[in-house]
Amino acid sequence: MKWDIHQFDTLESTNATALLCPVGTVVMAESQTAGRGRYGRTWQSPKGNLYMSLVLPDLGKDNVAVPFLTAVAVADSLPGFDISLKWPNDVLLSGKKLAGILIEKTQDKLVVGIGVNVMTSPEEGILYPTANLAGRLRPMTLAKRILLQYNTLLDLLDKKGFKEIRKRWLGYATGIHKKISIHLADTELQGIFKGIDAKGALLLKQKSGTRTLTVGDVFFNLKDK
Ligand code: BTN
Repeated sequence: MKWDIHQFDTLESTNATALLCPVGTVVMAESQTAGRGRYGRTWQSPKGNLYMSLVLPDLGKDNVAVPFLTAVAVADSLPGFDISLKWPNDVLLSGKKLAGILIEKTQDKLVVGIGVNVMTSPEEGILYPTANLAGRLRPMTLAKRILLQYNTLLDLLDKKGFKEIRKRWLGYATGIHKKISIHLADTELQGIFKGIDAKGALLLKQKSGTRTLTVGDVFFNLKDK
């Protein structure tokens, strides 16, 4: 993909702007006034962190790979840092949330929003402990690395399919074969995290059998850490 980068001082949300742009556009902002998180949550977006959104074509059956591919692209862009990944697409630094990914879909394209705590780790409204890179990279340097990795991984997806992306993601995944709790809208499930299936759904082993989950917040049981 040939990326066309557009930078702004401040936007409501880079995802909102990217939804209006053609495929190949990358929207970046130094800060956001209405950053969007998953499940309608707010993503605190002070200056100093990375806020970027990529516009991809609809990849059809390969759309399932995009959250995982994106998380792997961010992880691959941070060699030397203690990075792990948490289902479906959180990027952790030493076990704490470093980056969030929000994918929005329209009829013919996907917008992939990536927020990385480069300088500060906003806590407010966040469910998990958070981490930051202590300013060791500039947001633009990191953005360029992510775009480079993205192209490599899109190529891999094209040639080998989700299977290979899944393998890379599992290589960074945290908590495999450990006890986890999954918080759904009105209930909580406990079980052993067994990885992801061919469609990217989480496999949770319970006494009654293995369940396949497509939504939910994952928490690791503290005593197993
Ligand atoms: C999450 O809840 O973990 C996902 C957070 C995604 C935040 C990024 S910042 C850039 C892009 N623009 C937004 O409004 N949200 C995403």
